[in-house]
Amino acid sequence: MTILATNPVLVRPTLDALGGYEDALARGWAPDPRRTGDAAYIAAELDTLRADRAGYLARLLTFPAPAESDSPTTPVNHALWILDGEFAGKADLRFVPATGAVPDGVPGHVGYSVVPWKQGKGYATAALRALMTFARAKGLTELHILCNVENTASRAVVENVGGEVEHVGSHPSDRPEQMKVYYRVRV
Ligand SMILES: CC(C)(COP(=O)(O)OP(=O)(O)OC[C@H]1O[C@@H](n2cnc3c(N)ncnc32)[C@H](O)[C@@H]1OP(=O)(O)O)[C@@H](O)C(=O)NCCC(=O)NCCS
Repeated sequence: MTILATNPVLVRPTLDALGGYEDALARGWAPDPRRTGDAAYIAAELDTLRADRAGYLARLLTFPAPAESDSPTTPVNHALWILDGEFAGKADLRFVPATGAVPDGVPGHVGYSVVPWKQGKGYATAALRALMTFARAKGLTELHILCNVENTASRAVVENVGGEVEHVGSHPSDRPEQMKVYYRVRV
């Protein structure tokens, strides 16, 4: 499945492209932004991937939820990769199909990360714009996106697409002292 067909593309992860994700881990990229610079976490991800490539991919496609659900009240998660000929990053869109709400315990509708050596090229902004179109097609009318207050790059991405600040506060998915800006983006 392709969400964005121009460069960079936004696609569902595949086994064929897993080598690029593996290389990014080997270069020190942390898929979870909260674990940036955590060498032990990154090494463990790499070990898990190399031990069972298909199993690792299956986990990427189903954690915290698969992209499709039989029940409209069960949250879904669309896990996507940003590719520019090489692996460039990831973006996720999660919501409850029946209501469009953010699933419980998840920090907002959207998460994204671009590998450090491909940052500053507009990739996260392009991915977010594509996710907005995709979300609208899925019946959502707005996205709630959380950024750490000090994460100026992430905040710039959301503000680039018209994000409005709702409030600032903590979120149960992170340390209580970590303040986050809660944005609303109309789609
Ligand atoms: C946040 C992140 C995804 C941005 O990715 P990106 O592809 O570099 O973003 P873009 O190229 O679309 O740039 C978006 C804006 O951020 C700005 N920006 C990029 N790096 C920046 C930095 N280090 N400091 C301040 N602003 C920065 C760019 O100037 C741009 O703003 P502009 O369009 O107004 O000029 C990337 O920095 C990243 O992966 N960080 C680590 C993971 C993370 O924090 N994820 C977000 C969790 S909410």
